[in-house]
Amino acid sequence: MAQEAARGQWHSRLGFVLAAAGSAVGLGNIWKFPYITGESGGGFFVLIYLACVLLVGLPIMTAEIILGRAAQRSPVGAFRTLSRRGSPWVATGWLGVVAAFVILSYYSVVAGWALHYTWLSISGALAGMSTEQVGETFGAVYSSPRLNLLWHAVFMAITIGVVWAGVQRGIERWARVLMPAMFLALLAMLVYGVQLPGFGRALDFVFGAHSEKLTAASILEALGHSFFTLSLGMGAMLTYGSYFEREGDAVKASIAIGVLDSVVALLACMVLFPITFSHGMEPAAGPGLVFKGVPMALGELPGGQLLSSVFFLLLVFAALTSAISLLEVATAYFIDERGWPRRRAALLTGLTIAVLGVPSALSGSSELFGAGMEAAVGRNFFDLFDYLASNWMLPLGGMLTALFVGYRLDRALREEEFMRGTTLGKLYRSWLGLLRYAVPVGMAFVFLNALGVL
Ligand code: TRP
Repeated sequence: MAQEAARGQWHSRLGFVLAAAGSAVGLGNIWKFPYITGESGGGFFVLIYLACVLLVGLPIMTAEIILGRAAQRSPVGAFRTLSRRGSPWVATGWLGVVAAFVILSYYSVVAGWALHYTWLSISGALAGMSTEQVGETFGAVYSSPRLNLLWHAVFMAITIGVVWAGVQRGIERWARVLMPAMFLALLAMLVYGVQLPGFGRALDFVFGAHSEKLTAASILEALGHSFFTLSLGMGAMLTYGSYFEREGDAVKASIAIGVLDSVVALLACMVLFPITFSHGMEPAAGPGLVFKGVPMALGELPGGQLLSSVFFLLLVFAALTSAISLLEVATAYFIDERGWPRRRAALLTGLTIAVLGVPSALSGSSELFGAGMEAAVGRNFFDLFDYLASNWMLPLGGMLTALFVGYRLDRALREEEFMRGTTLGKLYRSWLGLLRYAVPVGMAFVFLNALGVL
C-alpha cells in the first residue's frame, strides 16, 4: 500500500527482530543490569528478574507490537485509531512521546561516557593506569562539563543521522551491522573472562542460590528493570511494530527479542564479574562498575588496550541502537500526526532532546543541576529524569497499555491480531490472563512502593 510505503516498513522479519532487539539491548543490559545484580546479591535477583521478563515484560511486548501493527501508526495515532477521537486512552500515547524526550536526554549522556572511554582506550590513555588513577579518571569525566557536553552532542548527532536516513536505510541497516558486531565483541570478551581466576565465583554469584541481600525493594527493582531493558511502556515497540508487515509473527518475535535481551544481560555479568572478582572489587560498585572495572582489569594486560577498546565500542553500539528507537518514537509522532517530512522531524526532535540533555550532562559539575539540586530536592537533574522515567512513566505506560489491550480493545480484533501470522495461537488465553491480572497487580506494587506506602 502506498500509505504504508510512505511511512516505511522493515525490509524483512529478521530486520525487525534485530532492530527491536537493538532497542532492547542497551546500557540497561551492559551498564545497569550487572551493578543492580551486584547490589541485590546475585542469584535470586536474577531469577526474579527473568520471571518478570517472562510474566510481565513479554505479554506487554506482544501487546505493543500488535497495537502498532494493527493501527499502522506511532503511539498517539495508534491509541486514537483503536479507541476513538478524544478518548482518554490517547494520553497513553502522549505519555510515550514525552518519555522518549526524557529518557533519551539523559541516556545520551551515559552513552557519551562510553564514547569517551572508547576514545581513551583506543588512544592508549588508559594503558597502565593504577586502580587509583582509573577511579580518578571516572570522577574527572563525571565532573567535567566540557567532556560531558562534547560527547553528549556527538552521540546525539550520530543518533539523528541514523533516524534521518529512515526505517530501512537507517534504523534497519545499522541494526544489521551493529547487533552482530556487538554480539561477537561480547563473546570475545567472554573468552577472556572464562580464563580469569574469578570466573567460578562469578558463575556462582549469578546462578547460585543467593538471597542474602534480597529485599522487597530489589524485587520491585527487578520488575522496573524488566520494563526498561525491554524498551516497554512508552511505545517504542509499538512504533517498531507499526513498521512490521501485517502477516509477521508478533508472538515469536517478542520471544526472540526477550531471549536475546536476557542473554546479553547475563553475558554482560559473565564478562564483568570475573574481572571485578579477580581484582578484589565488589560487584556492588554502582554506576561506575563498568567504567572503572574494565580499564582496571585490562590496563595492565598485554592486549588489554585492544580488549577495552572492543568493550567500550560494544557498549556504544548497544547504546546507539537503543537511542535510535527512542528518537524514532518522537520523530514518528511528528511524521504521523503533524505531517512533517522525516528529515525535519528527526533533526528538530533530536536537537530538542540534545538541549534537554544539557542539565543532565552538567549534573556532575554544576551547582544548579548537580550538588545544589541534590541538597535541595534529594536528586540531581540526571537522577531526577531517570527516576521519573523508570519509576513513573514506564510503569504507568505499561500498565495502561496492558489495561487497554486487556479490557478496552475490541475482543474480536484483539484475538484476530494476536493470532495473525503466529503458530503460537494456543498462548492466547495465557497472554490475556497475564495482561489482565499479572501486569496490573505487578504495576500496582511498583506505584505503592514509589509512593512510599510499602
Ligand atoms: N532498553 C534500552 C536499554 O536497556 C533502553 C531503551 C531504549 C528504552 N528504548 C527504550 C527504555 C524505551 C525504555 C523505553 O538500555
